[in-house]
Amino acid sequence: MNRDFEFRQLLRAYRTGIISESTFDQEMKQLENGAGKGSNGSGGFRAFGRTYQSERDAILRFLEAASVGETNAGEALPKWLAICKTDCIRGGIKMVAEREAYHGRAFAQRLKELGGTMPDRNTEEARKNLAYISDPMITDLAKLQRGATRFPNPEETIRPIFEFAEMIKEDHETKEMVRLFAADELSTLKWQNALYAALTMQPDQASASAAA
Ligand SMILES: [Fe+2]
Repeated sequence: MNRDFEFRQLLRAYRTGIISESTFDQEMKQLENGAGKGSNGSGGFRAFGRTYQSERDAILRFLEAASVGETNAGEALPKWLAICKTDCIRGGIKMVAEREAYHGRAFAQRLKELGGTMPDRNTEEARKNLAYISDPMITDLAKLQRGATRFPNPEETIRPIFEFAEMIKEDHETKEMVRLFAADELSTLKWQNALYAALTMQPDQASASAAA
C-alpha cells in the first residue's frame, strides 16, 4: 500500500464524515512520518486509511460517526423538503431523507447494543449545514450542485465503505448493515449526480440527445 493511496483513503474517509478532522490530522502526521507504511498485518484492523486496535474498535468508531451524520442528515433534509420548489428534486429528497433517518436510527441502535453511545450531534458543521439547507434564498439547483460537486465520483467515494463491510469477519450483524448502507449511499450519490447533470444539460446537448 503506497503513501499516495493511503492519503486518498484518509481524505475520502474525512470528506464522507467517517473520521473527524482531528483524527484526519493525527493520521496525516503519522503518514508524513512514515508510520503508515507496513502497518498492514501488524495486528491492528486497517480501514479507511488508518489502523484501529481491533475490528470492534473500527466498528464502534464507524457507528459513532455514521449515527451522527445520518441522523443529522435525516433531520436536515426535511427542512429542504418543506421549501423545495422543484418537483424532481423534491421527489428524490423525499426518499433520501427517509433513508438517512433510518440509517441514523439503525446505527444508533446497533451502537447502543455494542455498548457505545452516540456522540454529541450538535456540531458546528451540523448547524451550518442545517442553516444552508433551510435557507429559502438558496435555489434547489444550487443545493443539488453542492452535493454533486462534493462527490463527483460516487463509486470512488463509497468504495471504502463496501471494503469495510468486506473486511468485517466477526460481527456479522453490523457487516450486513454496513453493506446495505453502502448500497443506499451509492444510490443517493448517483441519483444526485445524474439529476444535476440532466438539469444543467446545455440546450444543444439536449437537442442532440433527443435527435439521437
Ligand atoms: Fe448518508
